[in-house]
Amino acid sequence: MRRYWLALLIVPGLLAIAGLPGVAPERIPAGAAYADTNSNEVKRMPLTLPDLPYPYDALEPFLSAETLHLHHDKHHQAYVNGYNEAEAKLKAAREAGDFAAIRALCDALAFNYSGHLLHSIFWTNMKPGGGGEPSGDLAKQIAADFGSFATFKAEMIAAANSVQGSGWAVLAWQPLGQQLVVLQAEKHQNLAEWGVTPVLVLDVWEHAYYLQYQNRRPDFTKAFFEVVNWDDVAQRLAATQE
Ligand SMILES: [Fe+2]
Repeated sequence: MRRYWLALLIVPGLLAIAGLPGVAPERIPAGAAYADTNSNEVKRMPLTLPDLPYPYDALEPFLSAETLHLHHDKHHQAYVNGYNEAEAKLKAAREAGDFAAIRALCDALAFNYSGHLLHSIFWTNMKPGGGGEPSGDLAKQIAADFGSFATFKAEMIAAANSVQGSGWAVLAWQPLGQQLVVLQAEKHQNLAEWGVTPVLVLDVWEHAYYLQYQNRRPDFTKAFFEVVNWDDVAQRLAATQE
């Protein structure tokens, strides 16, 4: 029996399609599409929650283990589950030829997929012993687009602190303008620009900080910069500029 699959791989912020023959189905990554040549049916692996790249207490004292447990294990998991459930409902709607619920399904898919993607970037955007300032090409690009690192940091923190309700501040590469831009995202997807690739994201939903910082969001956004993994941000920028 010959099988092949097409994998949709999340390379830092990018979607790339790869045809990889001879890979056992159990090794197909979460979210990947694959085709079974016997049935001619395209199938898709459900999304799964990625592991944190460090222990839960690794970002203390800036981010408590309790907050990270809840945020990763409960909230991020909920976006993974929400996307998989909405995708199953959409498949059933297609099979039934009944698209009466398409608006709610599109909303659920965009919300949960965006939440999953941003959280997956967020975890790797931080590391124990992080912080400081970036170097190399990332530092040059930030200086070119914002004037200085201090100005970029002030703009990113201001964007995060002023998100209305729940959302994110996002540093993203905008290919059309060949520039880095700071965006806000309400919820996970509103106010985003099409085509940009997030390289640094800061979650300002209350679940990200309330247990530890209560209503002091500015204290949390300031602390975030003490654990930023600039190597990860630089790798994401280099990958999207290739
Ligand atoms: Fe979150």
